[in-house]
Amino acid sequence: MAAKVSTIGQLLLLVLVALSAHVVDYSSSSLHGNETDRSSLLGFKDATSLEPHQAFMSWKDSTHFCNWEGVLCRMKAPRRVTSLNLTSQGLVGHISPLLGNLTFLQSLILTDNTLTGEIPPSLGHLRRLQTLRLNNNMLQGRLPSFANCSNLRVLDVSVNNLVGRIPVDLPTRHLQVLQVSANNLTGTIPTSLGNITKLTTISFSFNHITGYIPNELAHLSNLQYMYASVNQLVGRFPQAILNLSTLVGLDIVLNGLSGEVPPNLCTSLPNLQILVLGGNFFRGHIPSSFTNASSLNDIDLSGNNFTGLVPATIGKLTKLSWLNLERNQLQAQNKQEWVFLDSLGNCTELQMFSMSWNRLSGDVPSSLGNLSSQLQRLYMGMAQNQLSGDFPSGIANLRNLIVVSLGGNHFTGVVPGWIGTLKTLQQIGLHTNSFTGVIPSSLSKSRLGGLYMFSNQLTGHIPPSFGNFSMLQYLGIFNNHLHGGVPMEIFRIPTIFQIVLSFNNLDGKLPSNIGNAKQLVNLVLSSNKLSGDIPSTLGNCESLEDVELDSNIFSLSTL
Ligand SMILES: *[C@@H]1O[C@H](CO)[C@@H](O)[C@H](O)[C@H]1NC(C)=O
Ligand SMILES: *[C@@H]1O[C@H](CO)[C@@H](O)[C@H](O)[C@H]1NC(C)=O
Ligand SMILES: *[C@@H]1O[C@H](CO)[C@@H](O)[C@H](O)[C@H]1NC(C)=O
Ligand SMILES: *[C@@H]1O[C@H](CO)[C@@H](O)[C@H](O)[C@H]1NC(C)=O
Ligand SMILES: *[C@@H]1O[C@H](CO)[C@@H](O)[C@H](O)[C@H]1NC(C)=O
Ligand SMILES: *[C@@H]1O[C@H](CO)[C@@H](O)[C@H](O)[C@H]1NC(C)=O
Ligand SMILES: *[C@@H]1O[C@H](CO)[C@@H](O)[C@H](O)[C@H]1NC(C)=O
Ligand SMILES: *[C@@H]1O[C@H](CO)[C@@H](O)[C@H](O)[C@H]1NC(C)=O
Ligand SMILES: *[C@@H]1O[C@H](CO)[C@@H](O)[C@H](O)[C@H]1NC(C)=O
Ligand SMILES: *[C@@H]1O[C@H](CO)[C@@H](O)[C@H](O)[C@H]1NC(C)=O
Ligand SMILES: *[C@@H]1O[C@H](CO)[C@@H](O)[C@H](O)[C@H]1NC(C)=O
Ligand SMILES: *[C@@H]1O[C@H](CO)[C@@H](O)[C@H](O)[C@H]1NC(C)=O
Repeated sequence: MAAKVSTIGQLLLLVLVALSAHVVDYSSSSLHGNETDRSSLLGFKDATSLEPHQAFMSWKDSTHFCNWEGVLCRMKAPRRVTSLNLTSQGLVGHISPLLGNLTFLQSLILTDNTLTGEIPPSLGHLRRLQTLRLNNNMLQGRLPSFANCSNLRVLDVSVNNLVGRIPVDLPTRHLQVLQVSANNLTGTIPTSLGNITKLTTISFSFNHITGYIPNELAHLSNLQYMYASVNQLVGRFPQAILNLSTLVGLDIVLNGLSGEVPPNLCTSLPNLQILVLGGNFFRGHIPSSFTNASSLNDIDLSGNNFTGLVPATIGKLTKLSWLNLERNQLQAQNKQEWVFLDSLGNCTELQMFSMSWNRLSGDVPSSLGNLSSQLQRLYMGMAQNQLSGDFPSGIANLRNLIVVSLGGNHFTGVVPGWIGTLKTLQQIGLHTNSFTGVIPSSLSKSRLGGLYMFSNQLTGHIPPSFGNFSMLQYLGIFNNHLHGGVPMEIFRIPTIFQIVLSFNNLDGKLPSNIGNAKQLVNLVLSSNKLSGDIPSTLGNCESLEDVELDSNIFSLSTL
């Protein structure tokens, strides 16, 4: 009955339309068109096998397809589908090629589902398509050609399993956003990208792209973001990038780029906010022009071979929040070379500062204490760093520190008790220095998760107050001169995971409450003077995987 009525309705319409002859074509194609839209959508639905979020509940015959969830149509007749958006609906299955028949489609968004199979080449027929987001699925195969989608503005297929190359025939007229990161793409960056002059964002990080960054990219006069990290790009720092004066973010971390960074980099790129060059083979000095890009907030030069000094004008970067210079050959060995640290105090937004694995030496200037009170992470340890003198007193001012890493230097003197007043501290690395004196019992007032104080000259007892740690997972104070017993309190720490106390002068018996440490995986007590029986409760430590008790004087019967 319903079918009949609709047929009559359609006939009536045809008659009405036929009366004004000049719109007949228009109308009949609309009848055909909207039935095609309907069957395309149903075909799409049929190709997805699971719908845990019940996106398709409303996709019923009794409801006009323009009212189906995720579907938008244009308002004026003929009603045609212009947008299909089924983000995060738990869709499993394939993308039906029938979607290529939604000829009025402007926006197709299937982000964050579990779609597999290939991207149907028929999507390349959608000439009105402006936005195509298929990111965060498990799509396979190659990218089809979108050369005819001349209205395409956004193409996002990142986080899939796509293979093949970045297409050389992308539509050039309107494309602004090209995101293909986190796939298995290979081949080189096509020089034809240089013809897509409206591009504002290119992202192809986490692929296997090889070769040079082509000079043609210099034509991208609107480019703001270029994300190319974790690929196999080679060659020198691309001169083409110096032409991109609109660039805001440049991320080329973990590639094989080499040579010097152009000295005028930041005068050429005055709008730069993100400059991430870590994990390449760059060498030479950090160009002093860096401090001319006054909007910079994220600098990562880590894991290169930069030499010389940190620019003394670094404090001009008042928006800086992340400064990662670790794993280079940067030096600061006398007062003049440390001047940058005074200047860095002007970076009042600084949250992370790392100069681990460089060539720092001498006393840490007291201006460390003038760094931003926002500072959460401070790393100055390891490798050729040879900082000396007392524990840097400036740290007492940095009330929001979460991580302090000073390991592998030549610090001497006692570890000050005020560290325990840094309430936010979660990790402290003081290992492999020459700290003396006792371990401050006040440390247990912090929320430490990791205490790294091994390989120093620490004396005295392990503070029983350590039983008050509520979040400690790692206690590493081996290779010191500690004596006294292993306090029973440390086995009460509810989170304790690893206890490494070897190579000290600890004596006495092991506490019998040791079996309470249900989380404990690693217990290393070797090379001490521990004696008596090994408590049988040790067998209650359900998680224990590695116990090292050798080179003590435990009763033979228990060994
Ligand atoms: C098809 O289009 C005609 C004319 O615009 C309209 O009357 C009819 O309701 C549409 N049918 C469907 C299923 O959308
Ligand atoms: C698509 O749908 C998601 C979830 O309903 C929504 O957050 C997003 O804004 C939509 N996108 C567009 C472009 O309409
Ligand atoms: C829709 O598309 C498919 C595959 O792309 C094609 O084979 C079919 O003929 C089209 N159907 C209609 C009604 O246009
Ligand atoms: C693009 O359109 C032209 C002309 O209609 C056609 O010959 C070509 O095959 C189309 N290309 C793709 C990839 O669909
Ligand atoms: C993608 O590459 C990774 C590593 O090279 C490989 O393990 C994986 O199987 C590849 N996936 C596909 C779909 O080719
Ligand atoms: C890019 O544009 C140049 C002219 O500026 C042209 O010679 C070249 O063929 C174009 N490349 C592509 C792939 O469209
Ligand atoms: C890049 O800029 C330099 C200097 O402004 C200019 O000489 C060169 O032609 C530009 N390169 C391209 C490819 O536009
Ligand atoms: C860039 O910074 C340097 C050193 O701070 C300064 O001498 C130079 O004038 C600056 N250049 C521009 C263009 O601001
Ligand atoms: C860094 O540079 C030094 C000398 O300039 C060189 O000996 C060393 O091999 C380089 N290291 C790397 C990882 O390139
Ligand atoms: C930073 O602040 C100090 C005073 O605290 C000032 O002398 C210096 O000029 C400022 N600017 C820079 C770039 O260091
Ligand atoms: C820290 O900054 C204050 C105010 O800018 C200044 O007076 C003081 O000398 C600085 N201290 C150090 C050690 O640089
Ligand atoms: C451990 O914490 C308790 C309160 O939970 C407190 O009474 C005691 O003094 C602390 N012990 C040490 C040694 O700090």
